[in-house]
Amino acid sequence: MLPVVVIHGGAGTIPKERAGQATSGVCSAARAGYAVLQGGGSSMDAVVEAVTQMENNPSFNAGCGSVLNIKGDVEMDAIVMDGKTLGSGAVSAVRNIANPIQLARLVMDKTSHAFLTAEGASLFARSMCVPEVPQESLITEYARMRWEKNLAPGANPVESQMGKMGTVGAVAVDREGNLACATSTGGILNKMEGRVGDTPCIGCGGYADNNMGAVSTTGHGEAIMKVTLARLILFHMEQGQSAEVASDLGLACMKSRAGGLGGVVTVDPRGHWAARFSSQQMAWAAAQKDTLHYGVNAGEHFTQSIDEPR
Ligand code: GLY
Repeated sequence: MLPVVVIHGGAGTIPKERAGQATSGVCSAARAGYAVLQGGGSSMDAVVEAVTQMENNPSFNAGCGSVLNIKGDVEMDAIVMDGKTLGSGAVSAVRNIANPIQLARLVMDKTSHAFLTAEGASLFARSMCVPEVPQESLITEYARMRWEKNLAPGANPVESQMGKMGTVGAVAVDREGNLACATSTGGILNKMEGRVGDTPCIGCGGYADNNMGAVSTTGHGEAIMKVTLARLILFHMEQGQSAEVASDLGLACMKSRAGGLGGVVTVDPRGHWAARFSSQQMAWAAAQKDTLHYGVNAGEHFTQSIDEPR
C-alpha cells in the first residue's frame, strides 16, 4: 500500500465557480507530495511540500488567499507532526510570512519547543532568515470582498463561515512506513484579532503516530477543539476501526456533541487512507500506486493515472 499522500483543501460549501480551481489545486499538491515520496523523500518532506503548494495557491484559505480578521489583517496558524518521533512544530497568529507550514517545521527542527505564537514566532522567523512579505501579497481580491461583505450591516456571519471554512492539510506514509501530517490556515473569516483556532493545536488540527495513523482536519475550529478531532479519530483507529470508519465516528461526534461540521484526511500505518467530511463539500486528492484519486462532493471518487494532466 505504501507510499501514499492524501490532501484536503478545506471543508465547507465551495461556490460552483471555484470548485474547478479547488480540485486542480488539491490534485497538483497531491502530485507534488507523491513526487517527493517517489524520490525517496520522507513523509514529512511530502506533506510540507504539498501544503506549501496550497499556501502559494490563492484559491485556498492558507498563506496567500487567507481570510481576513475583523481588522482586515492576515493572521495564520500551522502545524506539522512527525509520527516516528511524535515531534511537532506549530505557529499561531503569524503575519507577513508566505509559508507558515515551513515555519512550523523549523519550530520542530530547530527549537526545543513545540509551539510559537505571534511576535515570538516572527522573531524566530527572522532569526531563521525566513523572508518577510508585505501583507498585501497575501490578500486576494476575493478575501477582501468577503471581509467587506461580512462587515456590512445585516451580514450573517454564521452563514458566511459556512460558505468557506477552508484550511489546507496533508497526511502521508513514506517507503519506510513513517507517517506525518501538516495543516495550515488563515482561520475563520472576520475572527477577532489574536483568535487561534484548532489548526496549530496538537491533536486538533492534526496528529501523527507511526503506531496508529495520521490525521489532518478542517472545519469549524472551536468545534474541532471541543472534541480534539484528530486524536479522537486515532483513538478509534487504536480500538481497531478502519481509517474511514474512525474518521466518520470522529466527525459524527463533532456534529452531535459540538454542533460543528468539518472534514479530515486520514492514513493508517499500512497506507490505507480516507478523505471524509460532514460539510457539504471538501476538495480532496490522494496519490498512491501511480494513481490519483480526487473528489469534491459527497460520494464522488474519480481516478486517473498520476501522469495525466487534470
Ligand atoms: N479550522 C480552521 C479554523 O477554525 O481556524
